[in-house]
Amino acid sequence: MQIKTVGVLGCGLMGGGIAQVSAASGFKTIVREVNQGALDKGMARIKRFLDDGVSKGKVTNEQRDTTLANLTGTTQFGAMRDCDLIIEAIVENVDEKVAAYTMLDAGVSERTIFASNTSSLCITELAAKTKRPDRFGGLHFFNPVPLMKLVEVVRALTTSEETYQALFQFSQALGKEPITAPDKPGFIVNRLLVPYLLDAIRCYERGLGTIEDIDKGMKLGCGYPMGPLTLLDFVGLDTTYYIANIMFDEYKDAMFAAPPLLKRMVLAGKLGRKSGEGFYKY
Ligand code: CAA
Ligand code: NAD
Repeated sequence: MQIKTVGVLGCGLMGGGIAQVSAASGFKTIVREVNQGALDKGMARIKRFLDDGVSKGKVTNEQRDTTLANLTGTTQFGAMRDCDLIIEAIVENVDEKVAAYTMLDAGVSERTIFASNTSSLCITELAAKTKRPDRFGGLHFFNPVPLMKLVEVVRALTTSEETYQALFQFSQALGKEPITAPDKPGFIVNRLLVPYLLDAIRCYERGLGTIEDIDKGMKLGCGYPMGPLTLLDFVGLDTTYYIANIMFDEYKDAMFAAPPLLKRMVLAGKLGRKSGEGFYKY
């Protein structure tokens, strides 16, 4: 399966990063947002990241210009007509994702592969809701996508071998290190990471330490690049809340239950970096 043109649904934290690395790796990339305002914001974030890369000496001017030349933004599903692969990176909600696949299914070629960047939803369920359950798989990237090397490649029960291989090879073509992860809630990384992050919130709620000390403890004591509460702000508290609910629903294990504080912060609009405030102010 030759992948030349890539569509990305969503130009938020993850979709923007996925679109950037796809374009940087030479794929013609079309990224779709719900409206022009969201698209402009996402495209500006990509440009800022590339400009920072140039300032830091990590990206050449030519690489930045080629990446931007390979990238097109749109608000139309129809613009994805000729994509060989479409990667969905929209809100962590099964109904929203299925609604987007339904819009796409009707308008793109039968051979187009769909992949979801979901953190926790069942890939087999998502695949079953499309007209192409054999050409559907999970491609789970990590935040920030241009810097994190890992991609989890997830097979639905229905994913064909050809589709799986195409997704694995595509991840390698992006310069990533793919691993095979099972279609179980949270795959490998979030199965281990999410209970830790939720526990950090529970510990803070119960007075274990200040936000700063919990973060400093794990950063300097264990060598983690970020403390857990900083990482939660980075991932997005809304996204973490959705992930926790989905994982709790499947595993029915208290370690995945969303702590009351997380729910309240999301309801208050304190979503982390993306909203300007979470555990910290930005
Ligand atoms: N363009 C290119 N390179 C850049 C860059 C840019 N705009 N900005 C930074 N870099 C490079 C830097 O030059 C540096 O490179 P070297 O290591 O070669 O020196 C490297 O990227 C790290 O950058 P910084 O030194 O500026 O920043 P840092 O050391 O503070 O690292 C970080 C930033 C990589 C984000 C680090 O803090 C980190 O790894 N944090 C944890 C992130 C994490 O855990 N992500 C997973 C979240 S969970 C998830 O994604 C799954 C889910 O489903 C929720
Ligand atoms: P985000 O809120 O930053 O971005 C989501 C974007 O999708 C928004 O800009 C929204 O306008 C857009 N959108 C919604 N419906 C759309 C549609 N039908 N078509 C096009 N765009 C649409 O969220 P995010 O953090 O980028 O998360 C996106 C997905 O990636 C989720 O499934 C999440 O679980 C997963 N994920 C997130 C992280 C993370 O660290 N945040 C890491 C890995 C995977």
